[in-house]
Amino acid sequence: MTRILTRHTDQPDQVQLDVARRGGAYQGFEAALSRSRQEVIQEVEASGLRGRGGAGFPTGRKWSFIHPAPDRPVYLLCNADESEPGTFKDHYLLKRDPHLVLEGIAIAAYAIGAHKAYLYLRGEYASLAMVMAGAIEQAKAAGILGDSCLGSGYGLRVSIQLGAGAYICGEETGLIQSLEGRRAYPRVRPPFPASAGFLDQPTVVNNVETLANLPWIMTEGADRYAGVGTGRSAGTKLVSLSGQVSRPGVYEVTMGRPLLQFLNEEGGGMPPGRQLKAVIPGGTSVPILSADEAAGVTIDYESMQAAGTMLGSGGMIAFDDTAQMPPALLRIAEFYAHESCGECTPCREGTGWMAWVLKRLLAGEGRVNDLDLLLRTGDNMEGRTICGLGDAAVQPVQSFIRKFRPEFEALLPPAPDPSPPWQRHGHGPRSARMGPPAVEAALSEPVEGPPTASL
Ligand SMILES: Cc1cc2nc3c(=O)[nH]c(=O)nc-3n(C[C@H](O)[C@H](O)[C@H](O)COP(=O)(O)O)c2cc1C
Ligand code: SF4
Repeated sequence: MTRILTRHTDQPDQVQLDVARRGGAYQGFEAALSRSRQEVIQEVEASGLRGRGGAGFPTGRKWSFIHPAPDRPVYLLCNADESEPGTFKDHYLLKRDPHLVLEGIAIAAYAIGAHKAYLYLRGEYASLAMVMAGAIEQAKAAGILGDSCLGSGYGLRVSIQLGAGAYICGEETGLIQSLEGRRAYPRVRPPFPASAGFLDQPTVVNNVETLANLPWIMTEGADRYAGVGTGRSAGTKLVSLSGQVSRPGVYEVTMGRPLLQFLNEEGGGMPPGRQLKAVIPGGTSVPILSADEAAGVTIDYESMQAAGTMLGSGGMIAFDDTAQMPPALLRIAEFYAHESCGECTPCREGTGWMAWVLKRLLAGEGRVNDLDLLLRTGDNMEGRTICGLGDAAVQPVQSFIRKFRPEFEALLPPAPDPSPPWQRHGHGPRSARMGPPAVEAALSEPVEGPPTASL
């Protein structure tokens, strides 16, 4: 297996510049500086590299939308907000190989004609700010960054900006707003960041992992990179594996690796005596796969799409046969309701309602048509919001209910008895309609809906 991203992550003291340079750090930047910026963009386009932040947009093509002009500065923003539940792979790279990320930033900045780059770091990753600040200082002192990077005449400055810990700050226009010192309300597009981004200037936002691929592409060449992986999924993918597996962790996987093989080999399989029930393959924003569906899937963009899900951020969460899907879904729905920025109505209201309806269902106070209500709420949100958070919130709700419907139906009250009251039997206590004991225990809080709730 080709290691592109994790070649040096086990190396002690890799955060030190001299150690990193002995392993080849900044040779990719040197190679990039020896070519024109258009040649670097062409090389990255030819490599087939796609963005690892979730959407999988081709990186070279994104860069080609930038047209530097003398009176318009260009900015590169490295997205290190990493707040998608189940995702912790950027943290791994930043902590263990900060110079790899910094080199990727430098290559991308050179390619798009930026002389200023920002690393936007998730607020909870404050300790990594020290690591990255140390790497930047070392690179400046060695002449790798500054007015004339590696003596090339090209100048680049890199700064770090800490977020305050909101998921929406990872959405690229929310990130730009936040970096400008505003509330992170995503922007309506167009205009796209390539024409009017940070401070209304041409801007590229790229994920940490995306950028960390660039040094290898520059030294080894686009053809070699394109030869790793499958079809339109070139290279490797970092997968952050969590949930009910024996060996959770961050793994670099060649695109095209069978998902179950990965879970059983790198992940060590399920805990003893348990079976795989389901897996979320790319962060909680993507549809869940049942164990049967996962059996035919490989870890790449095309296979995930064919299975009705997405590779997303590579935040993989495994569920074994003891997992209860309704409380798991409630936890996810509450996250999206909490993180919705509230700028647009379908997401602000829809995420709150979905979490609230799930909560009342789990508290034994559901209504007969609650599952249809949840599905319909999702239909009314999808594609009708300013940013992708609205759609992201719908995917888990719809896929959990569609794929594990009997578990949700078991929480519904019995359908109304059509016979007249005097002929009815079995007026059992309300607790007879409630969920399994573990579910009830987890839900001791009272069910509170919005003050105007009238569903
Ligand atoms: C709600 C939301 C949160 C996001 N969070 C992140 C994030 O934490 N990190 C990230 O790289 N991309 C995140 N994205 C995707 C970014 O908007 C953007 O597509 C990405 O940073 C582009 O980088 P790439 O082309 O290298 O993938 C998020 C998108 C949405 C809708
Ligand atoms: S979809 Fe949600 S998070 Fe995105 S802008 Fe609208 S309210 Fe905010």
